[in-house]
Amino acid sequence: MSFLQSDHSFILNRYKNMLPVTADTPLVTLGEGATPLIKSTRLVEMIGLRELYFKAEFMNPTGSFKDRGMVLAVAKAVESGSRAVICASTGNTSASAAAYGSKHGLEVIVVVPEGRIAQGKLVQAIAYGAKIVSLDGSFDDALTTVRELCQKHPVALVNSVNSDRIEGQKTAAFEIIDDLGKCPDILALPVGNAGNITAYWKGFKEYFNLKRVEFVPELWGFQATGASPIVQNVVVKNPETIATAIRIGNPASWSQAIEARDASNGKIESVTDNEIMDAYSLLAKEEGIFCEPASAASVAGLLKNKLSGIDFSDKTAVCVLTGHGLKDPDVALQLKTTQLESSSNINSLEKALDWH
Ligand code: F0G
Repeated sequence: MSFLQSDHSFILNRYKNMLPVTADTPLVTLGEGATPLIKSTRLVEMIGLRELYFKAEFMNPTGSFKDRGMVLAVAKAVESGSRAVICASTGNTSASAAAYGSKHGLEVIVVVPEGRIAQGKLVQAIAYGAKIVSLDGSFDDALTTVRELCQKHPVALVNSVNSDRIEGQKTAAFEIIDDLGKCPDILALPVGNAGNITAYWKGFKEYFNLKRVEFVPELWGFQATGASPIVQNVVVKNPETIATAIRIGNPASWSQAIEARDASNGKIESVTDNEIMDAYSLLAKEEGIFCEPASAASVAGLLKNKLSGIDFSDKTAVCVLTGHGLKDPDVALQLKTTQLESSSNINSLEKALDWH
């Protein structure tokens, strides 16, 4: 079965020996994985690193890193005979589940926190034809409810508590090493439900155990200050942040995140919404990269460490940019912009631009 011309590049094929792919796993792809590692030209100097790269996970088919884990989780659900998949989501998981579910002809149910999901993500779930249920409560409440539902009904749960999601997502760590030819010293990423940090840690460890690399990176996770249960070491009942993707108060993979942090000699810290917005704007204006606010938490975290006096000058860092900026147009519209007034003739346009 062949779905793409460049079949060698899709992750279920490229990394099948490292994944629970069997002869019965349907190797369906939408072109996920093989995302670019973009070299920083300006922020690298601002932060004072030796090298800085952005892992452009927003270039996956539904615009977020979720597609790596989802392609495997949905394929395995099909392999085991499921006809329906379900997830709770702050938006990106639902878009991804909806896309892969529709590709396989499954029923997809997504449960999202009422009124708190970015518009671009909601329109994706609508377009792919998912059944959308909005729940009065937080993401954490939605996940609890969905987990209960899966105990009672024959439907596959495709949140990152499903180990196939983690397996698929770990391929991002393989790609970074395969592309760089080494491990970075630091991997910085946003932390919400903590599936991604768990998956990267698993991926780096597996390559290390196979002796493909000589060391593993320090994992530096960043939560939004208003949604920072791991940093505060307490469940946050009403998480709040402009970065709705990581508005999570009780991460399902909490203990795995702590393990990744400690075993990698890394850290999990918080960044404020203002710091997130500054990094979000800098990425777009200085690097030509438009990611969603949650993704910018990784860059905000490095900038914050720089300001607190950490010396990175001999380090190579990779920031994981998890989701596309177009997912959340409402936040982008809050950025300050210069509105030039002009009428439709050349003279008034020159005047408006101050080009005399
Ligand atoms: N960045 C983005 C853009 C996300 O959508 C998420 C999580 C994260 C970071 C955090 O990753 O949960 O593995 O620690 N989004 C989930 C969702 C919760 O439902 O789409 P994590």
